[in-house]
Amino acid sequence: MATLLFTGVALAEEPSPSVAPRMKAIVYHEYGPPDVLRLEEIEKPVPNDNQVLIGVRAASVNPLDWHHTRGTPYLARLAFGLLKPKETRLGVDYAGMVEAVGKNVKRFKPGDEVFGGRTGAFAEYVSVLEDRAVVLKPANLTFEQAASIPIAAITALQALRDEGKIQPGQKVLINGASGGVGTFAVQLAKSFGADVTGVCSTRNVNMVRSLGANQVIDYTKEDFTEGTQRYDLILDNVGNRPLLACRRVLNPKGKYVLIGGGGPNDNQWIAILARPIRAYVLSRFVSQDMGVFLANLNKEDLTILGDLMQAGKVKSVIDRRYRLSEVPEAVRYLEQGHARGKVVITVDHNNETVPVSANLAAIPASTIGPVLIVLAFIAIIIGVPIVPLVLALALNRRFQRRNPGKRPYRWGYYFSSLSFIAGIGLGILLESGIAVILCGVIYAALAWFFAQRHHWAWITLTILSFNPVAWIINFFYLRRRWAEDWIATPAM
Ligand SMILES: NC(=O)c1ccc[n+]([C@@H]2O[C@H](COP(=O)([O-])OP(=O)(O)OC[C@H]3O[C@@H](n4cnc5c(N)ncnc54)[C@H](OP(=O)(O)O)[C@@H]3O)[C@@H](O)[C@H]2O)c1
Repeated sequence: MATLLFTGVALAEEPSPSVAPRMKAIVYHEYGPPDVLRLEEIEKPVPNDNQVLIGVRAASVNPLDWHHTRGTPYLARLAFGLLKPKETRLGVDYAGMVEAVGKNVKRFKPGDEVFGGRTGAFAEYVSVLEDRAVVLKPANLTFEQAASIPIAAITALQALRDEGKIQPGQKVLINGASGGVGTFAVQLAKSFGADVTGVCSTRNVNMVRSLGANQVIDYTKEDFTEGTQRYDLILDNVGNRPLLACRRVLNPKGKYVLIGGGGPNDNQWIAILARPIRAYVLSRFVSQDMGVFLANLNKEDLTILGDLMQAGKVKSVIDRRYRLSEVPEAVRYLEQGHARGKVVITVDHNNETVPVSANLAAIPASTIGPVLIVLAFIAIIIGVPIVPLVLALALNRRFQRRNPGKRPYRWGYYFSSLSFIAGIGLGILLESGIAVILCGVIYAALAWFFAQRHHWAWITLTILSFNPVAWIINFFYLRRRWAEDWIATPAM
């Protein structure tokens, strides 16, 4: 009884423990389909001296969100987290109202309406550094319109202006003109004074034309790579046509800018990475400039885009709206690859309810996928340098046994087996079984002759390594060995 009384007094006298403010946010703890996304109650962020706390009113979904959710392409897990996501929050694009500012913040004050990009945007609040990608929202834009700008519009702007070096009067083709990036790209290309051709499916032809496209190609009826028209710039949001075919419809000094492409059902090991590498390699051999482009979120370009939208020169096309609790459905819809413009999340601070069973209904995590991925990474990281090394040592010993007195080959063997692996890699990049076999046979034969010290094979294999470092090293290394061979066989 005494204890009870004591405890009671003690509790009454103690100040009640301060409960950290909470907020609702979309969170995921494992990779997988959109079902792994949960609406959870988590701690509300507290801005530091240089940060701004923003109450999110709207956010928008990008393909980047399903890449993060699924942890694809798998190589990206080196950055995202190998077995599970390091960053458990999702979403980037947002628009909202400043609720509080740190004491050093000069650009914003509570009550300002802003928009920008920051990881974790699918939440009631985000806290951002004032000098990052966040700017004032034009007053005549809704939160939804502003939230649809950041990734998609910045990508379109930078791809056309910085990478594509677009000029007035140029003929520009936008493949995937009806999606998030494409709808902005059509309008921006028009505002740069270009003659714009958009490629989309039948149901979107009128919409793309209404955005200002001079010509629209319905891809269900016509292949843009088989037409007679030549373009100065191709912006490719889909990446579904062979690069050589795209090159055919480019002017001799034209540019091909690869923005993205591929869906969750595509091969996430090779296919998604193969096209950028192929564009890079092809670009070295043709007169056109072909390359991949990565957008960079910054406040300067957000301001430009906000101004263009305020002036009515560019508008956002909003396809569907979902609530915060419906983010999994929104991501599932987007990853089907047929959104018409942007998919928006509206955040209603009073009406978002966390499903009671949300945290209980855990989806059993697949253990085979992550284990396979780790094993594959280990195999690649250890295998690529070690296997050729072991092979080289074995070949070296064999050479010494068979040719007593002759200088061993050392790095030559290592290099030839590495080139062989590169040859197989090249075949895989070309995405054809025949290419893999052909490259394997050709490179194996070259490596064999290389190992027999045939000088022509040394040179061919060195050139075909497509590796400038190997070219330089081998220039010196092979010259020395070549000279030794001449000295060793003076009769030749
Ligand atoms: N490099 C970067 O920094 C960067 C930045 C943002 C996005 N991306 C990438 O760029 C790509 C596009 O992004 P997004 O936000 O525009 O995606 P999105 O909103 O999902 O748009 C997809 C669009 O592709 C169109 N499409 C599908 N199949 C097509 C085909 N065979 N031919 C022509 N169009 C086709 C669809 O139009 P229909 O419905 O008419 O078929 C749809 O409108 C994604 O792969 C994304 O990952 C890259």
